[in-house]
Amino acid sequence: MSYPYQIKTLAQYHQVYRESIENPSKFWLDIARHFKWRKQPETTSEVLTWNFEQPLIEWFKGCKLNITENCIDRHLEHDANTPALIWEPNDPEEHQRILTYKELHFKVCQFAHVLKNNGVKKGDRICIYMGMVPELAIAVLASARIGAIHSVVFGGFSAQSIADRLIDAQAEFIITQDGAYRGNKEIPLKSVIDDALLQCSFVKRVIVLTHNRMPVSMIKGRDVWWENEIKKVETQGNPDFPAEEMDAEDPLFILYTSGSTGKPKGVVHTCGGYMVYTNYTFVNVFQYQKGEIHFCTADIGWITGHSYIVYGPLSAGATSLMFEGIPTWPDAGRFWDIVDKYRVNILYTAPTALRSLMAFGNGPLQGKELTSLRVLGTVGEPINEEAWHWYHEKIGKGKCPIVDTWWQTETGGIMISNLAGVTPHKPAHATYPLPGIQPILVDENGHVIAGTDASTGEWPKEVVNGNLCVKFPWPGMLRTTFGDHERCRLNYFSTYQEMYFTGDGCFRDKDGNYRITGRVDDVLNVSGHRIGTAEVENAINMYTDVVESAVVGYPHDIKGQGIYAFVILQQTSENQDLTRQDILQTVTRLIGAIAKPDKIQFVSGLPKTRSGKIMRRILRKIAENEIQHLGDTTTLLDPGIVDEIVKGRL
Ligand code: WT7
Repeated sequence: MSYPYQIKTLAQYHQVYRESIENPSKFWLDIARHFKWRKQPETTSEVLTWNFEQPLIEWFKGCKLNITENCIDRHLEHDANTPALIWEPNDPEEHQRILTYKELHFKVCQFAHVLKNNGVKKGDRICIYMGMVPELAIAVLASARIGAIHSVVFGGFSAQSIADRLIDAQAEFIITQDGAYRGNKEIPLKSVIDDALLQCSFVKRVIVLTHNRMPVSMIKGRDVWWENEIKKVETQGNPDFPAEEMDAEDPLFILYTSGSTGKPKGVVHTCGGYMVYTNYTFVNVFQYQKGEIHFCTADIGWITGHSYIVYGPLSAGATSLMFEGIPTWPDAGRFWDIVDKYRVNILYTAPTALRSLMAFGNGPLQGKELTSLRVLGTVGEPINEEAWHWYHEKIGKGKCPIVDTWWQTETGGIMISNLAGVTPHKPAHATYPLPGIQPILVDENGHVIAGTDASTGEWPKEVVNGNLCVKFPWPGMLRTTFGDHERCRLNYFSTYQEMYFTGDGCFRDKDGNYRITGRVDDVLNVSGHRIGTAEVENAINMYTDVVESAVVGYPHDIKGQGIYAFVILQQTSENQDLTRQDILQTVTRLIGAIAKPDKIQFVSGLPKTRSGKIMRRILRKIAENEIQHLGDTTTLLDPGIVDEIVKGRL
């Protein structure tokens, strides 16, 4: 498989970018032709229908396909024996597993039969709560093959979070496993599901894979073993499973993500546009070459894993490496051992992982052969220059381009990034927009900042700074939030008229390089995970003795951002440490350990305006230890409270 749409030179990038803006429908139609469709888009009029007011976004509507025929079947002719997935287990002493495209086809078809035997139909929602085992990828693909809508929930979320997601999606089917390995820990996934299901009697079937074989409860009539279901299929004979024909705009999956208010929202992606976009960005950003090994260290529970472990690489016939464990177990050389063992060519990871590994010094790099590496990538949060240079020098030996890829759960795929070795990299900058992407910067009042409208074809000459929006649709963008379209409109399309608002602040230098500076809304980015402050506050407020709380972020050396909570208790606690532990436990139960505050400060009041609004700006400054510049506090209901909070700062 070759990629005729792979951009090869800087000049070509500029040319393709211009064409993509001048005639988007023609641009995407020419790319879409290189996929396997049941009914393929023939004319530009079939490509795009849109308005951002509703919003209504349709790509290739009326065209038919199944994404798994693109990720698997179409590679069977020339690449049947090419490894599709390489799986490296948590424990380096255990055996790796390799699935060729042929084997993956067999397994996905088998499991699609299992889903069918268990009553799953097109359009049904399946919640997948698993660790990073090959069966997770198989479950995702089998779901897509039968036309069901998968909702993968990251294995670190609590029973309550799963229940919220099951209820929101009305998911009647669950795929899970007994337990997962994570470093030296075992995570009881099935048992967490059991707790969630106490609230979800509408769930009809739970399919349980055995992995670590920790004891689990199995309820007759509801819970079945993965392996037993496979055996039944084996006796049925014919393993092929004809893929369900999907409209390009049929939903492919839901992925929940945090926003600035309340509960996480179910971002919906559809089949055709998402496929084209993840493939196009994979091939171009990483400059993938046939036969290379691509190692994305994300979990499939996040969008990065969906797009750049599963759909992007597999649709390109690539070899995708999937890792069950963590970067620091058995030691901080784990990533480098994997690179060495499989001769990895592309490594795609998060700045937080790099910072945590940097802290171990050069020891873990000793004796590790890293010369196979050709491209390095980062994702999930801004990368600081120190981590960038460490990555470049120590891992890439100064020879590998680093792609700093900016994107979001909602964008489906990479939006702003250099193309490895084709367009220049610049430390801590995501650099240029991908072809088809029209960024635009606006100020707080919604005015477009002069010279930042990409569609004018002007290349900027000044440094500018503003809120990052996108002016025109791209195939990978979200279509709605599940069950609540108005929420989608309010969240993304109402802040600025006729634009998609990202929630990020951004600089652009005189050469047109974008540098994303972080969220401008009440969303935190902790170790590359998105967490809404309101969600954490709601969880803290559930603790019996809490009256009120306010949560803000502060700079954290490893995590990027840490979580700082200011908490008012009903009465002063006799044992503050124990109360803190109780609150942490409450947050862990309600959301998951990833949302645990790093600091909890007990206060007697919060800085509020006369109308009762919490002045987060002041709390943020205190958490950041910027107490010299607290700004005007005279409009506060009780200015005295600020002094008390500053004194008690942790
Ligand atoms: C938020 C999206 C995209 C997959 C992982 C996170 C931040 C993401 C970068 C980057 C600076 C980045 C943004 C964005 N972000 N990539 N290269 N440089 N910031 O997906 O959970 O949807 O979070 O992550 O703030 O809005 P997500």
